[in-house]
Amino acid sequence: MNVNESALPQIRKQTVIWLGTALALFLVLVLLGLVMRLNQAGALHATPDLFYAIMTLHGLGMSGAMFMSSIAAVWYLLSRYIKPYAGLMWSSYLLIVLGAVGLVIGTLVGRFGPGWYVLYPLPFASSIWPAWATGLSVISLVLLGTGWLLAQLTLLGSLAQRYGAGNLLGWQYFTSRQPSVPIPPIVLITVISLISGALTTVAGAVLFLLYIAKWLNDALQFDALLLKNVVFLFGHTIVNITMYLGIAAVYELLPKFTGRPWSMNRVVAISWNTVLLFVLGAYFHHLYMDFAQPVTLQYLGQILSYSSAVPATVVTVFGVGAQVYRSGMRWSFVPLSFFLGITGWVIGGLAAVVDSTIALNTVLHNTLWVPAHFHTYFVLGYLLILLGMTFHITESQRESRAMAALTTMVVGGTGFLLMFYLGGVEGVPRRFAGYLGIDSHTLSATAQLLAQIAAGFVVLFLLGLLVYLAALGRKRTAAA
Ligand code: HEM
Repeated sequence: MNVNESALPQIRKQTVIWLGTALALFLVLVLLGLVMRLNQAGALHATPDLFYAIMTLHGLGMSGAMFMSSIAAVWYLLSRYIKPYAGLMWSSYLLIVLGAVGLVIGTLVGRFGPGWYVLYPLPFASSIWPAWATGLSVISLVLLGTGWLLAQLTLLGSLAQRYGAGNLLGWQYFTSRQPSVPIPPIVLITVISLISGALTTVAGAVLFLLYIAKWLNDALQFDALLLKNVVFLFGHTIVNITMYLGIAAVYELLPKFTGRPWSMNRVVAISWNTVLLFVLGAYFHHLYMDFAQPVTLQYLGQILSYSSAVPATVVTVFGVGAQVYRSGMRWSFVPLSFFLGITGWVIGGLAAVVDSTIALNTVLHNTLWVPAHFHTYFVLGYLLILLGMTFHITESQRESRAMAALTTMVVGGTGFLLMFYLGGVEGVPRRFAGYLGIDSHTLSATAQLLAQIAAGFVVLFLLGLLVYLAALGRKRTAAA
C-alpha cells in the first residue's frame, strides 16, 4: 500500500542528499585507502602517526558512511508504507555530519590514531596525540552514535505505528500462511537489523560516555576486557546490519526487475528471526586470542557466528535464484549490481566463516585475511548494492556508462582484495604502516609486492567509481 505518494518527491530529495554525502565520503576514504596501500608498498613515506590517523579515519569513516547510506536507502523505500518523519531524519543527518567533521579534525589534525576499535586504554595511553584529539574524536563518535540511534528509533517507531509492534517480527507467519497483518520482507529484515543496531548503539554510547568520563578524569580505571567486548558488540553488529539493510533493499527492489513477487513466508520469517537470536553473540569470534575470556564464550563465538550467518544467507541466495531463474529479466545495471553484490556478500561471508573457525583463526588472526574478508562483503558486496540502489533512487539513465563503471570497479576491487587474501595466506600482518620492519626478508618483500599490485588495482577501482558518479542523474533530454 502506498500511503505517502505526495511526500515522496521531498523524501527522495532528502535521500539523495544522504546518499550523495555518503558517496562523497566514500570517495575520499578510498583515496585514503590508496594512500595506506602505497605506504605499505614503499611508494609513499607517511610518518607512522599520520598512517595510523588515516587508518582510524578510514575504518571509522567507511563503516559510518556505509551504515548511513543503508539507513537512508531503506528509509526511502519504506516511506511508501510508513510515516517518514522527515524532520527527525534531518536531525539525525545533522548529528552524523557534525560527528564526521569532528572525527576528521580529531584524526587528520590531532593525529588520533588508535584504529577503529579505539581499544581501551589506547586512546588515553598514547603520547603521540594530544588529549584534545581524544576528547574531540570520542565526542564526535557520541554525536555519530546519537544520529544513528535517532534514525533507527524513528524507523522502528514508525514501523510499529503502521503494522503494530507485535507483528513486526513476522511471528504471525510461523502459524499462518496468510496472516491478518501481512508484512513485506523489507519490513522484517529492517526490524531485525534495527533492533540489533539500536541495542548495540546504546551499548556503544555507554562505552563512549565512559571514555569521556575517563578523558575528564584520568584517575578512572575500567576493565579492559569488558570494554573490548562492548566495542566489538557495537562495531561488529553495526557493520553486520549495514549488509542486512542492503539485502532488505534487494528483497524490495529486485522484484521490480524480474516481475516476480518476493513475498514473506514462514521460511523467510524463521531464517531472519534466527539472525536476531544469534547476531549479538557472533562478535565473540573477534576475541579468540583473548585468553582471559571464558572458554565457553569462545566456543559460543564459533557456534553463533555460523548460526547467525547461514540461515539468512541460504534463504536469500535461494530467493535471488528463484527471482532471476528464467524470469526473462533484462540484466540492466541495477539488477546486475544487486546480483553481483549478493555474490560478493556470500564470498566475503564464507571467508568470514573460515576466519571465525577457531582452528583456522589461530593461523589467520591479525593477518591481512581479516581486512580481506570484511572488505569483500563491503567493496564487492554492500557497495555494489548501494550503487544499484542509488542509481535506482536517482532515476539515473546512463546505462552503458554505469555498466562500464561496474566492470572496472569489479575488476579493480577483485584485484585489490586478492592481494589482501594472498597476504593473509602468506601470514602478512594487518595494520602495519610499512613492511620493512618485518624480520623475515622474504615475507617483507612479498608483502611490499602485494601492496604495490593492490595499489594499481585500487587506482582502477577509483577510475570506475568516478565513471559511476558521472553516470548518475537523468539525461538532460529526459529531464522534464
Ligand atoms: C577500494 C576501497 C578500499 C581501500 C583501497 C581500502 C584500503 C584499506 C587498507 C589499505 C586498510 C589497512 C589494512 C591493514 O593493513 O590492516 C584498510 C583498513 C580498513 N578498512 Fe578499508 N579500504 C577500502 C574500502 C573499505 C570499505 C568499503 C570499508 C567499509 C567498512 C572499509 C573499512 C575498513 C576498516 C574497518 C579497516 C580497518 C581499520 C583498522 O584496522 O582500524 N574499507 N582499508
